[in-house]
Amino acid sequence: MTNVKKKLHIRTYGCQMNVYDSERMAEALAQAGYEETDSPDAADMILLNTCHIREKAAEKIYSELGRYKGLKAARPDLRIAVAGCVAQAEGEEIIARQPLVDLVVGPQAYHRLPELVARVEAGEKALDTDFPEEDKFDHLPARSPRRARPAAFLTVQEGCDKFCAFCVVPYTRGAEASRPPARILAEARALVVRGVREITLLGQNVNAYHGAGEGGSWSLARLIRALAEIEGLERIRYTTSHPNDMSDDLIAAHGECAKLMPYLHLPVQSGSDRILKRMNRGHTAESYVRLIERIRAARPDLLLSGDFIVGFPEETEEDFEATLDLIRAVGYGQAYSFKYSPRPGTPAAERDQIPEQVKSERLTRLQALLAEQQAAAQAAMVGREVSVLFERAGREPGQVAGKSDYLHAVHVVAPGLAPGDLRRVRITESLPNSLSGVIV
Ligand code: 5AD
Ligand code: SF4
Repeated sequence: MTNVKKKLHIRTYGCQMNVYDSERMAEALAQAGYEETDSPDAADMILLNTCHIREKAAEKIYSELGRYKGLKAARPDLRIAVAGCVAQAEGEEIIARQPLVDLVVGPQAYHRLPELVARVEAGEKALDTDFPEEDKFDHLPARSPRRARPAAFLTVQEGCDKFCAFCVVPYTRGAEASRPPARILAEARALVVRGVREITLLGQNVNAYHGAGEGGSWSLARLIRALAEIEGLERIRYTTSHPNDMSDDLIAAHGECAKLMPYLHLPVQSGSDRILKRMNRGHTAESYVRLIERIRAARPDLLLSGDFIVGFPEETEEDFEATLDLIRAVGYGQAYSFKYSPRPGTPAAERDQIPEQVKSERLTRLQALLAEQQAAAQAAMVGREVSVLFERAGREPGQVAGKSDYLHAVHVVAPGLAPGDLRRVRITESLPNSLSGVIV
C-alpha cells in the first residue's frame, strides 16, 4: 500500500454498548482511511466514547480533554472527537467549553461519522446530536472480516421508555427502538464465520425487544430461538433487562433453549416498595421475588446478577434494610451497586438528597453482603463440571482463561488449548474473582 493510513485512537467509557459502538465507529472510519492505534501520541484523531450514567462523567471528560492541549499545540492537525452519552447530553456546550474539540456526535448519529469527519478534516467544527428517523445500523458498514474474539457483543435494541426517576438513558439514548431480526441474524451469521461462538445481545432494555420481522413483531425469546439455530454459535446471553419485560416466552426459553446460558442480569435497584415507587420502577419487591421464583422454576441453576442503588432521595434506614432483606431472599451470584448520583434533567435530581456519608456507609454494608453471596456462589462451583469458552492466554505459562456458562472467569493450565475452544472443566478452586479448574 502506498497511501499512508491516518491513525485513530478510541477511548471507551461505560457500558458494553459503548464497546460495541466503538467497534462499529472504528469500522465506519476505516472506510474514511483511518486505522486504530493504542497510542494517543501517534493519533491523527482521538475519539472519546463517553458515558453519562453516574458521577461527574462530564467533568471527567473535560479534564481528559484538557490533557490533550499539549498534543494539539504540538500538532495542530490532530482532530478531537467526543461521542456517546456525554456528547448527547452536552451537545455544543462541549465545543463552547473546550474549543480544542472538533467533533461532537451523539449515539444515534454514528452512521454520519464519515461525513462529519470529512467536514472536520476540511477545518470545520461538526456537531450532530439528532435522533434521526433511520436506523443507524442500516447505514454503518458491515462488520469487517477480521478474525473476531470468540465472544462478541451484538446490539439488538437501543433506548428506553421506562423513565426510572434516576436514569439519563431515556434522554441520551432516546426512545426504545429494536433492530429487525433479519439484520441481527445476518450479523450473527457473519460473526460466526469470523470464529465467534458466543454472542451477548445488547440493549438498554433488551427484553423489551420487539423487532419487525417475518410474521409480525418478534419477541426477544423468538429472536433467541432463531439465533440458536445457527450452527457454530454455541452460547447466547442478553443484557440488560427490566423485570416488567420478563415475558412468559422468555422465561420458558431459559428452560428450553440449551444455548441460552444460565445467567441473568435482572436489576431491581431497591427492595423497598416506597422507594421503588419513587423510582418509577413499576414493580414491587414482592413481584420481583415472585418473578425470580418463576425463572428459577424454568432454570434451577440460573446464576442471578443485579444492580442496586443506595441513597436514593428519601431512602431511610428501614428502606435500605428492605434492600438487604431482598438480597438475602433472592441470593445473587454477582452484582453491581452504586451510590445514587443526581443526573441533571432527571426527576430525582430535583429532590432532597441523602448525605454523602450515609450513602457511603450503606454502600459498604450492601457490598459486604453481596461479596459474601458472590463468594458462596463461587465456592458452590468447586467440584462441579462446567463448560468453559476459552478466550485468551492466561498469566502463567500454559494457562488459558475463559468464561463458564455462569459467566465466572475460569482458568486452567492446559498447553495446546486456544482461544475459541469450548471444553468441560472441573472446578477445583475458588479465588477472589475467578475459578480455577482442570480439563475433564
Ligand atoms: N445513580 C446511581 N446509579 C445509577 N444507575 C443508573 N442511573 C444511576 C444514577 N443516577 C445504575 C442503575 C442501573 C445501572 C446501569 O446504573 O443501577 O441499572
Ligand atoms: Fe434507565 Fe434501565 Fe430504568 Fe430504562 S429501565 S430508565 S435504562 S434504569
